[in-house]
Amino acid sequence: MKKLLELISEEVKKAFGEAGYEEELGRVTVSNRPDLCEYQCNGAMAGAKKYHKAPIMIANEVAEKLQESNVFSAAEAVAPGFLNLKVKEEFLADYVKEMGVTEKFGAGEPGKGRKIVVDYGGPNVAKPLHVGHLRSGIIGESVKRICRYAGAEVIGDIHLGDWGLQMGLIIYELSLRQPELPYFDEHFSGEYPKEAPFTISELEEIYPTASAKSKEDETYREKAMEATFKLQNGERGYRALWDHIMQVSVADLKKNYDRLHVEFELWKGESDVQELIPGMVEYMKREGYAYESEGALVVDVAREDDTKEIPPCMILKSDGAALYNTTDLATIQERMEEIEPDEIIYVVDKRQELHFEQVFRCVRKTKMVKPETALRFLGFGTMNGKDGKPFKTRDGGVMRLQYLLEEVYDEMYRKISENREMPEEEAKETAEIVALSAVKYGDLSNQASKDYVFDIQRFTSSEGNTGVYLLYTMVRIKSILNKYREQGGSVEKAQIAVTENESAKELMKAIAGFGAMMENAYVEIAPHKVCAYMYDLANAFNHFYHETKILTQEDEGKKEAYIALIALTLGVMEECCQVLGFSAPERM
Ligand code: ARG
Repeated sequence: MKKLLELISEEVKKAFGEAGYEEELGRVTVSNRPDLCEYQCNGAMAGAKKYHKAPIMIANEVAEKLQESNVFSAAEAVAPGFLNLKVKEEFLADYVKEMGVTEKFGAGEPGKGRKIVVDYGGPNVAKPLHVGHLRSGIIGESVKRICRYAGAEVIGDIHLGDWGLQMGLIIYELSLRQPELPYFDEHFSGEYPKEAPFTISELEEIYPTASAKSKEDETYREKAMEATFKLQNGERGYRALWDHIMQVSVADLKKNYDRLHVEFELWKGESDVQELIPGMVEYMKREGYAYESEGALVVDVAREDDTKEIPPCMILKSDGAALYNTTDLATIQERMEEIEPDEIIYVVDKRQELHFEQVFRCVRKTKMVKPETALRFLGFGTMNGKDGKPFKTRDGGVMRLQYLLEEVYDEMYRKISENREMPEEEAKETAEIVALSAVKYGDLSNQASKDYVFDIQRFTSSEGNTGVYLLYTMVRIKSILNKYREQGGSVEKAQIAVTENESAKELMKAIAGFGAMMENAYVEIAPHKVCAYMYDLANAFNHFYHETKILTQEDEGKKEAYIALIALTLGVMEECCQVLGFSAPERM
């Protein structure tokens, strides 16, 4: 469907043409003086020079042509030469009515034909998910859904951190605790046990213990590095242990991400591309891109016009070990070979910006991607506690994601149980749905790159710009529609119509902005735009709701039109929820 603003612009362009001026001057924008008009056109000002005429004269002639228009109820020229415009309710009503019967409410598909990989989540195996991992999962999931809504084929890849020192630390610690295990017997040639020698809770204790020991004890650290080296070079017993760590850990990660309604198409990790590294390094050397510098292998990625220093991209350390860079480079190679994406979007902490800048420059320079392959870094800011410092538990530790969600859930459950009588089961289910929405909206409504304050009281409040407020609004609409049905009305048959109600017209305008907003959210990969839109739409609805008798409306025609209008409002809000990755309950 054409955008509302496009249709309006077309009408004004036509009028410019009819009055003898260049049509392009008729571009319309939303008014920056909503007290005076809804839309405005400044084309007469721009045309004054070209036509050697006072802008107000041009504006007057164009306004004259617009008097008979089906689009505008008012088209007025004001000094020094603006066109102030108001649209007709019929025009708006027809537009939103068409939205209601059009796929995706008329939103276009600017991503059609594109294949996009979204790299997000990025947890490190064997370490518990903590709040730092929350943002990548939540934002990444929404980015994926926004791109999909825009018609693109999208593949989400979790890109597990599954190949580093943490694996060696666990293996070494285990070898001290249970030296009798066959994994540590070099002469063992039988089959290793199917069952892992640890549970997830044990694993979650082993890693931090080992990590702490390695920081205090140089020898311990060396041993762990040796274990990492052996693992990476294919030591059989260590590989078998690694498989166990992966199995136990991934099962737990899946549970956590399931609870967040975050899903990945690919569960690949750093370990998956290890075989590609030697060939890639060889290629970079052979083509003369990589050279030795102080024993390490590097590729220069600085450019003349750089305003800050971009250090060379290190491919191999002086001891020949691969680095974080190396894995990301090889992963791009693998994605180009196996998926051939048009675009890769990384949703990662913004403190890794330099790393990605180096990696992106390196793959371009070495021609590992096509010139038209887009590589985008969506860096997000830190989630802070109320004190403005990175979120911590009460005793100062890193907050585990699970506990954080638990706290929000408890608060939501308390509020729901306080507010109304609801069967226990339903109250629990509702609290779960609402708590998740509260957390996700609290995160997504901020521009990703900004830091934000995680405030449980604010996030779970039903007032203000919160997820809970939006869900309350949706639940309110659902309840009105249900009552209408109980009265024998058919929501499906109800048709949008002109009602001469100013707040209904405002609501229609808010609805009409959906398609343009969605396309823009895709182009700018900006979930916060969907949030802002949803909030405006909810406000427009609530304003309408407070001004208007709906169910008690005597005029049956109006009543039906209102029902159709709020049903459409709900439909659009549900669509927004869907792309943000949460949903509304039936009651609250
Ligand atoms: N595991 C990494 C970390 O915890 C994040 C991975 C981000 N994705 C990537 N392709 N490097 O910092």
